[in-house]
Amino acid sequence: MISWRKHYKKGLIAIGLLLSTSASIYGQDGDPKNGEKLFKANCTACHALDKQVVGPALKGVVDRLKTEQGLDTDWLHKWIKDNKALRASGDKYANEVFEKFNKTEMQVFPNLADKDIDDILAYTTNPPVEEPKADPAATTATDTANAAPANNTTSSIVIISLIAIAGLLVWILVKLRQLVKLGQSEELTGLNETRVKSFSEIYEKYHYIGKGLLAVLAILATYGIWNWIMWIGVYKGYKPEQPIYFSHKIHAGENKIDCQLCHSSAKYGKVSEIPSMNVCMNCHRTISEYNGKYIEPGKDKAFYDGEIQKIYAATGWDAEKQQYTGKTTPVEWTRIHNMPDFVYFNHSQHVVAGEQAIINSFNKKNPDNKIDVVCKACHGKIDTMNVVQMANDFTMGWCIECHRTTEIDMNNGYNKEYFKNLHEKLKKQYPKDGGKITVDAIGGLECGKCHY
Ligand code: HEC
Ligand code: HEC
Ligand code: HEC
Ligand code: HEC
Ligand code: HEC
Ligand code: HEC
Repeated sequence: MISWRKHYKKGLIAIGLLLSTSASIYGQDGDPKNGEKLFKANCTACHALDKQVVGPALKGVVDRLKTEQGLDTDWLHKWIKDNKALRASGDKYANEVFEKFNKTEMQVFPNLADKDIDDILAYTTNPPVEEPKADPAATTATDTANAAPANNTTSSIVIISLIAIAGLLVWILVKLRQLVKLGQSEELTGLNETRVKSFSEIYEKYHYIGKGLLAVLAILATYGIWNWIMWIGVYKGYKPEQPIYFSHKIHAGENKIDCQLCHSSAKYGKVSEIPSMNVCMNCHRTISEYNGKYIEPGKDKAFYDGEIQKIYAATGWDAEKQQYTGKTTPVEWTRIHNMPDFVYFNHSQHVVAGEQAIINSFNKKNPDNKIDVVCKACHGKIDTMNVVQMANDFTMGWCIECHRTTEIDMNNGYNKEYFKNLHEKLKKQYPKDGGKITVDAIGGLECGKCHY
C-alpha cells in the first residue's frame, strides 16, 4: 500500500513553498520605506503629502487620478519619468494639470527605475505613520497596510490565489489524514476498503499532476526568494540633498573638468574620495560668482553665488581681504555609494587596470550611448547630473554580470606584470569565444575576491 505519511510530508513542503512564494511576491511590491527616501530626495523640493507646495499634494495620488481622471499607474510612471514628453505627446490630463499650475515645469526623472516609482507611489498611498498610536490594534493595521500597498492589484490577486490554493491543500491533507487513519485501522469495513483502493487508483493515475504542480511551486518560490534577496540594499536612484549645491553638470559637463582632478584617489586606491575644500579653493579663490550660460530650471545666478559663498564660509576665506581667517567649518557631504563592510571594491583595479577593457566592452554593448571616461560605465553620465544619483543598482549581480561579459586585455602593462605566468595557461584553459578572456577567468567570480 502507498505510504500516506510520506505524501503528507510532501503536502507540508508544498504549503511551505506556497507561503514563501507569496511572502516573496509581497517583498517585491512597492516598498514605502524606500519610497519615502526617494520622495524626500527627489520630490520634496516641490511636493508635500498633505498640502500644495510648488506642485499638488501627493497623498493618495494613485487613487485620486484613478477615480477623477481614470488614469492608471502606467500614466503616473510616464508622467514622473518625463512629464515633458508626455505633455508633448498631447496627453490631455498632462496638459491640463500643467496649465492649472501656471505652466510650472516639473523636473524630469529619467533615472528613476520603475521599481523606484512603484516605491514612491507606495509611499504616497501608505505613508508610514509618524507617531505610533496608543491603540495597538490601529498600529498593527497600518503596519500591514504599509507592507502591502493597495495599489498593486496584480500581486494582490496572485497572493489571494496562492492563499486559496494553500487552503485547498490543507483541506486535501486533512482528508488524506482521515483516509490514512482509516487505512491503518484494523477493522476495515468493506466500504472503506474500496474507498481507499479507489483513492489509491486515482492517486496512481494522477500523482504526476500533483508532482508537476509541486515542481512549478518550487520554481516560483526559488524565483521569488532570489528576487527578494537581489533587491536587498538596492538604492539605485538614491540622490540625497548635499550641504553645498555642487553641480556635476556645471563642473564636469559645461566646464569639462576631468573627474580625476577632483576624485584623484580613484587611480591609486580602494576609495575614490570626495575632494577636500582645498581642491575647491584652487579654482574658487578666483571664481567667486557664477557667470555661466547654463542655469538649471528653478535656479538663478543669485542661488549659485550663494552656494559658492558657502565654500568661503567653510574654509574661512575672506574674499575682500583675500586671506584665510582661520575659522573653518567642515562640510559634511552625504555619502551616496556605500557598499556593505563585507564587500571589497577597489577603484584602481577598474580605473587603471580595467580602464580600456571596460570602455571597449561598454561601447560594444551600448553603440548608441558610448562613453569616453571609464567612470561612466558604472556611475552613469554624471556630467549631465546636477545632483549625483546612483545610476546602477550596485548589487552583487551587477558586479558579476560585468565580470562575466567584459573581455580583459592581458597585454596591458598592469596585467602583463600581474599575470605573467597565468597568461598562457589561461589562454589554453578558456578557449571559449576563440580565446577571449573575461574577468571571470582571472578569478572575478571567486567569492574571496570581493568578500573579506
Ligand atoms: C521642480 C519641482 C518639482 C519636482 C522636483 C517634482 N515635481 Fe511633481 N509636479 C510639479 C508641478 C509644478 C506639478 C503640477 C503640474 C505641472 O505644472 O507640470 C507636478 C505634478 C505632479 C504629479 C501630478 C499630480 C496630479 O495631481 O495631477 C505627480 C504625480 C507628481 N508631480 C509626482 C512627482 C514625483 C513623484 C516627484 C519626485 C520624483 C516630483 N513630482 C517632483 C513640480 C515638481
Ligand atoms: C570639481 C570637482 C569635481 C569633479 C570635476 C567631479 N566631481 Fe564627482 N564629486 C565632487 C563632489 C564635491 C562630490 C560630493 C557632492 C555630490 O555628491 O555631488 C562628488 C560626488 C561624486 C560621486 C558620488 C560619491 C558618493 O557619495 O558616493 C560620484 C560617483 C562622482 N562624484 C563621480 C564623478 C565623475 C564620474 C566625474 C567626472 C564625470 C566627477 N565626479 C567629477 C566633485 C567633483
Ligand atoms: C577646476 C576648477 C574648479 C574646481 C576644482 C571647483 N570648481 Fe566649482 N566651479 C568652477 C567653474 C568654472 C564654475 C562655473 C563658473 C561660471 O561659469 O561662472 C563653478 C561653479 C561652482 C558653483 C556654482 C554652480 C554649482 O555647481 O552649483 C558651486 C556651488 C561650486 N562651483 C562649488 C564647488 C565646490 C564645492 C568645489 C570643490 C568640491 C568646486 N566647486 C571645485 C570651477 C571649479
Ligand atoms: C567598475 C565600476 C566602477 C568604476 C569604473 C568607477 N567606480 Fe566609482 N564606485 C564604484 C563602486 C562600486 C563604489 C562604491 C564603493 C564603496 O562603497 O566601497 C564607487 C564609489 C565612488 C565614489 C564614492 C566614494 C567611494 O570611494 O566610496 C566616488 C567619488 C567615485 N566612485 C568616483 C569614481 C570616479 C571619479 C571614477 C572614474 C575615475 C569611478 N568612480 C569609476 C564603482 C565604480
Ligand atoms: C563595468 C564592468 C565592471 C563592473 C560593474 C565591476 N567590475 Fe570588477 N572588474 C572589471 C574588470 C574589467 C576587471 C579586470 C581588470 C583587470 O585586471 O584587467 C575587474 C576586476 C575586479 C577584481 C579583481 C579580480 C582579480 O581576480 O584580480 C575585483 C575584486 C573586482 N573587480 C570587484 C568588483 C566588485 C566588488 C564589483 C561590484 C561592486 C565590480 N568589480 C564591478 C569590470 C567590472
Ligand atoms: C564581483 C564581486 C563579487 C563576487 C565574486 C561575489 N560577491 Fe557576494 N556580494 C558582492 C556585492 C557588491 C554585494 C553587496 C550587494 C548589495 O549591497 O546589494 C554582495 C553581497 C553578498 C551577500 C549578502 C546578500 C546581499 O544581497 O546583500 C552574500 C551572502 C554574498 N554576497 C555571497 C557571495 C558568495 C557565496 C560568493 C561566491 C560564490 C560571492 N558572494 C561572490 C560582490 C561579489
